[in-house]
Amino acid sequence: MRAVGITEFGGPEVLQIVEKPVPEPGPGEVRIRVAAATVNPADTVLRSGRHGPPEGLEPPYVPGMELAGTIDVAPGGSGFRPGDRVMAIVSPRTAGGGAQAELVVVPADSVVAVPDGISLIEAATLPMNGLTARLALDLLGLSPGETLAVTGAAGAVGGYTIQLAKVAGLRVIADAWPKDSELVRGLGADVVVPRGEEVATAIRLATGDGADALVDAAVMGPLVLAAVRDGGQLAALRSFRGETERSVKIIPIWVGDYLHEQDKLAGLAALAADGRVTLRVARTLPAELAAEAHRRLEAGGVRGRLVLTF
Ligand SMILES: NC(=O)c1ccc[n+]([C@@H]2O[C@H](COP(=O)([O-])OP(=O)(O)OC[C@H]3O[C@@H](n4cnc5c(N)ncnc54)[C@H](OP(=O)(O)O)[C@@H]3O)[C@@H](O)[C@H]2O)c1
Repeated sequence: MRAVGITEFGGPEVLQIVEKPVPEPGPGEVRIRVAAATVNPADTVLRSGRHGPPEGLEPPYVPGMELAGTIDVAPGGSGFRPGDRVMAIVSPRTAGGGAQAELVVVPADSVVAVPDGISLIEAATLPMNGLTARLALDLLGLSPGETLAVTGAAGAVGGYTIQLAKVAGLRVIADAWPKDSELVRGLGADVVVPRGEEVATAIRLATGDGADALVDAAVMGPLVLAAVRDGGQLAALRSFRGETERSVKIIPIWVGDYLHEQDKLAGLAALAADGRVTLRVARTLPAELAAEAHRRLEAGGVRGRLVLTF
């Protein structure tokens, strides 16, 4: 079967279509015939080798953390049947490899049905970034009426975070370039402030004492600490490099902790089905153009997810 493969680490050009053996599902696993798999910042990190090779795996490594397709093989009792339309979160650092392959084996509890009315291409954009936003909000544990600030608000994690925060009854302050303001407001932000190095000052002005918590999807780190009230919380999407201040608690987020949270993924799918979570596709490209997708993502300015089709 065909897969996007990383044989050596480097720039986008190292991505190639490779042939891999058809993966066989083990106990508790299903095999999915992939229609669509997204390209995320995590894939560019894997490709670059910045975090080293996936432990215990041999190249070519297959990137991709989320997909949608149809069930190819499912054991009795899994709740799935061949032909079912499904979406799944996938870890490219486990034996099965990542999502960007024709056939992918995943634990059944990483998979949920795609609701009617949602295409497989749209569905592929939900699992990983939706669960990341879900996890961040679960860990922050804010109460209705509290204020959440979001950086990188026009991005995938940022957008889902805004929408889930509004479902939870939070007040949301989000950053954006002027050209993205409408988009971010449309996602539900109550207040939109200019993005950039002064964003913390702008959030503080909008909140008085600072936000109760901040989800730092732009990975600005210590630069945005001042946006958070004394004793508040900052959810860090990558390692927080620096010191905290005023007892602001740094909450590290790792979506790998939600690989098997099927109920939470089903909850996100239900919100997408009733329009409270918006699935944004920037562009679809055939898997053969994975390198082009990486170039576009790394250039910045992509709104919605780039989706590879198989
Ligand atoms: N820890 C985890 O489990 C986990 C899970 C998912 C994602 N992540 C990480 O979370 C981050 C966001 O992911 P994503 O998928 O949402 O990425 P994305 O879709 O590319 O969104 C990132 C957004 O941040 C904006 N941005 C970049 N630099 C900024 C700055 N200095 N100030 C304000 N905005 C800025 C980008 O704008 P431009 O496009 O204009 O640059 C983009 O709109 C990535 O670093 C990703 O690796 C971590």
